[in-house]
Amino acid sequence: MKTKRNSPESGSEAASESDPGSSAGRARHLWVVVPAAGSGRRVGADRPKQYLELAGRLLIEHTLERLAATPCVAGIVVALAPEDRYWQQVRVPAKVPVETVNGGAMRHLSVRNALLWLASRVADDEWVLVHDAARPCVRSEDIQRLVDCLWEDETGGLLAVPVADTMKRAAGTPPRVVETIDREGLWHALTPQMFRRRSLQGAIEAAMQAGVAITDESSAMEYCGRRPRLIPGARDNIKVTTAQDLALARHFLQREAGQQVAQP
Ligand code: C5P
Repeated sequence: MKTKRNSPESGSEAASESDPGSSAGRARHLWVVVPAAGSGRRVGADRPKQYLELAGRLLIEHTLERLAATPCVAGIVVALAPEDRYWQQVRVPAKVPVETVNGGAMRHLSVRNALLWLASRVADDEWVLVHDAARPCVRSEDIQRLVDCLWEDETGGLLAVPVADTMKRAAGTPPRVVETIDREGLWHALTPQMFRRRSLQGAIEAAMQAGVAITDESSAMEYCGRRPRLIPGARDNIKVTTAQDLALARHFLQREAGQQVAQP
């Protein structure tokens, strides 16, 4: 994995900031890219995790519903594996347009394909959100807050939560602690992440060209010298990766449904 940084010169076109103040007068509406082309094998099920049942609905249906219910969301573009056999069963929210594109072999390639699809529909300097299909517990109010906080920002940013546990670096098999890492300033990066469409596409392409690992949208922007802002979000916005996460997500969703029923 390379961690070399792009020079400001080489990254300047890729992640160039279009007039930072240009969003000020615009209505706060934006498209969401939902990468959903992963195989999700670590859950150990017979199908990709986004199509597993969770609290009465498919996992991805919860995710799409929460995005569509957020007032600022204008449309959703979902990146699917070309061989996807399950999307047809998904009940998509009627509130906003939901489109699909082919995903790629890695998450950032799926995101890039969706950004290319959006190129003929939204202006270069318009904001887009990117949200993992595998995060069904995201709260609508957190998405709206992210957008409101960043709408006039020059770079963009992401939902995140500060690290609460003591952090260890380990090595070997079985793993043994070699170092305790100061958790001051450490955050867990979540999604949605919010950047301007062209700027994000350029950053992903620049990082790809340099062979730099792109673990999320922010990492591509960081490679181009940007400093995305962190917006604190809820800790239950977990990414479902293992069967244990699935049980946790089920618990969070059922708890929330129970709270809504209990409200007068
Ligand atoms: O594998 P992981 O959980 O990190 O994937 C995060 C999100 O990215 C998931 O919603 C997954 O479906 C998506 N993804 C994708 N294309 C890939 C790999 C992952 O859209 N090639």
